Amino acid sequence: MCGIVGYVGNKKAQSFLISGLKRLEYRGYDSAGIVTLDESGAATLLRAKGKIANLEEKLAKNAKTDKIGIGHTRWATHGEPSEKNAHPHQAGNIYLVHNGIIENYKELKESLKDHRFKSETDTEVLAALINSFYKDGKYPLANAVVQALKLVQGTYGIAVVSRKNPDEIVVARSGSPLVVGVGHDETLIASDASALVGHTKRAIYLNDGEVALVTKNSIEIRTLNSEPVSAKVEEIETNLAAIQKGGYEHFLLKEIMEQPKSLAETLRGRINTKTSTVHLGGPGLSEAELRKIKHLVIVGCGTAYHAGLLAGYYIEQFTPEITVETVIASEYRYRSAYIPKDSVALIVSQSGETADTLACLREIKKQGIKTIGIVNAIGSTIAREVDGGTYVHVGPEISVASTKAFTSQVIAMTMFGITIAQAKGVKSGVLKPYIEEIAKLPKEVENVLSSTNEQIKTIAKKYAKYEHAIYLGRDTAYPASMEGALKLKEISYIDANAYAFGELKHGPLALVDDRFFEVAFLPKGTLFDKAISNVQEVLARGGHVIVVTNEKKFDMPVENVVKITTSIELFAPILMNLVSQLFAYYMTTARGLNVDQPRNLAKSVTVE
Ligand code: AGP
Repeated sequence: MCGIVGYVGNKKAQSFLISGLKRLEYRGYDSAGIVTLDESGAATLLRAKGKIANLEEKLAKNAKTDKIGIGHTRWATHGEPSEKNAHPHQAGNIYLVHNGIIENYKELKESLKDHRFKSETDTEVLAALINSFYKDGKYPLANAVVQALKLVQGTYGIAVVSRKNPDEIVVARSGSPLVVGVGHDETLIASDASALVGHTKRAIYLNDGEVALVTKNSIEIRTLNSEPVSAKVEEIETNLAAIQKGGYEHFLLKEIMEQPKSLAETLRGRINTKTSTVHLGGPGLSEAELRKIKHLVIVGCGTAYHAGLLAGYYIEQFTPEITVETVIASEYRYRSAYIPKDSVALIVSQSGETADTLACLREIKKQGIKTIGIVNAIGSTIAREVDGGTYVHVGPEISVASTKAFTSQVIAMTMFGITIAQAKGVKSGVLKPYIEEIAKLPKEVENVLSSTNEQIKTIAKKYAKYEHAIYLGRDTAYPASMEGALKLKEISYIDANAYAFGELKHGPLALVDDRFFEVAFLPKGTLFDKAISNVQEVLARGGHVIVVTNEKKFDMPVENVVKITTSIELFAPILMNLVSQLFAYYMTTARGLNVDQPRNLAKSVTVE
């Protein structure tokens, strides 16, 4: 997802713009640019393909003391990554940065004959459209933006400046987040609050359909129909330490290692081991409403989807006569699925901005189904559009590969399931084992991370040359194997796929040869022996097997065993997933790849 920053105040705009864009780098991008204006309106436009460092090289030769400007990191959608396609885009006196997609940009472009297009982007079309209302003084800047946006179909988060008004920035959003930071004699703009941390703790989250005209000491918000909007100033929770690496080489390792703490934050105030009960205030469902639930739909993408699958297994285990369906948002939004009235939908998203998940949320709400968010990013679009919700409170997750969010999403959803079970009168004896294990998890997570880290690093070095991998699991270990395969593939680029153990004979077993290695999850329990025989099938075909297990007595002749010493049994797959996270990390560093910003991916996929 692209990043937007803006500044108007008494300080040098260039320094905030560059530092702000660096804060947003983790979202993925392939070009960047900034424009600043001096008091006379003279513009300094700097754009570069590739990393922000390339932009900084140009900045070194064009340092200005300008007090207003906007900036952007672009993840190419229309037009390849290049300087000419990088934002800001210019049309006449205005400059525009844009997140999102203008669906009808082609027809709009037809109507803008007097603009000489220099790029292949939909954004330049929007700039030219705004200018068509702004030039010759037809409309003031904010009004020209409104007139243009009324003709736009698609999604946008934009910031606009003009050489003729070098003291104001116009921002607007529909489907792509924008936050206005309220400073002292300065106003800051960002597409994500992490760029504002250290500058202000006060922020206004724009809503879809709102346009704001900001100066260094004023913020005026209106709807596209020019109705005034009273701005709600909120507190930005994030602190600087939370968005810096804290001594780790990569955000990914930091976020893996901080899971004992982040999981403890997810549990804080929500679990009572003395009474073996769970209480979640956020969903806002009464006991009666919880009791009536017969069907859960869990919606997410990628890791969020895997978390929903795993939580669904647990909820089915302890909640009688409830059906759970976990769906991939990008599929579900186009299915004509009927959702029974006595359903609740869990909308799972770390960023709270994933386009497909947001679209699903809106479709499900049209059916009158209660929606509960399981979200991390405070104030994000999904968090604001669900009927109720439970923030997972893991703090900013910067690395593109999601780790701490997964662990907390699974537990948050399982706790929501426990509140349903409690309301349905499920005996505390049934729920007690789950609640007791959940309460112990932060410590157990810490033990597993510290006890397996070095061993996993060593094993990874032995397998880093492979290009293919198979992850295997059964029951609750199957969603964990899916998450493990995703972690490996998305950062090491190894072709890793997960299969249910029971599916091996139905096809995947044909794959086993020296091109592949296998990672098999073998949690203790009634299905352990079945998994053993599956591993034997793979070994009989010459498989290169790594087993992850919490069974002390394991002694099969596999190439490597990662033994997890823990009293946790129900949630053992969550602990096994820690091994997958570390394994993916060390495989990627061994392959010399970019751990935090893998190719082609973004932290939050805000376009379809
Ligand atoms: C996970 O490591 C990936 N980065 C990706 O699959 C991610 O989980 C997915 O895009 C959903 O993101 P969200 O949780 O922010 O909605």
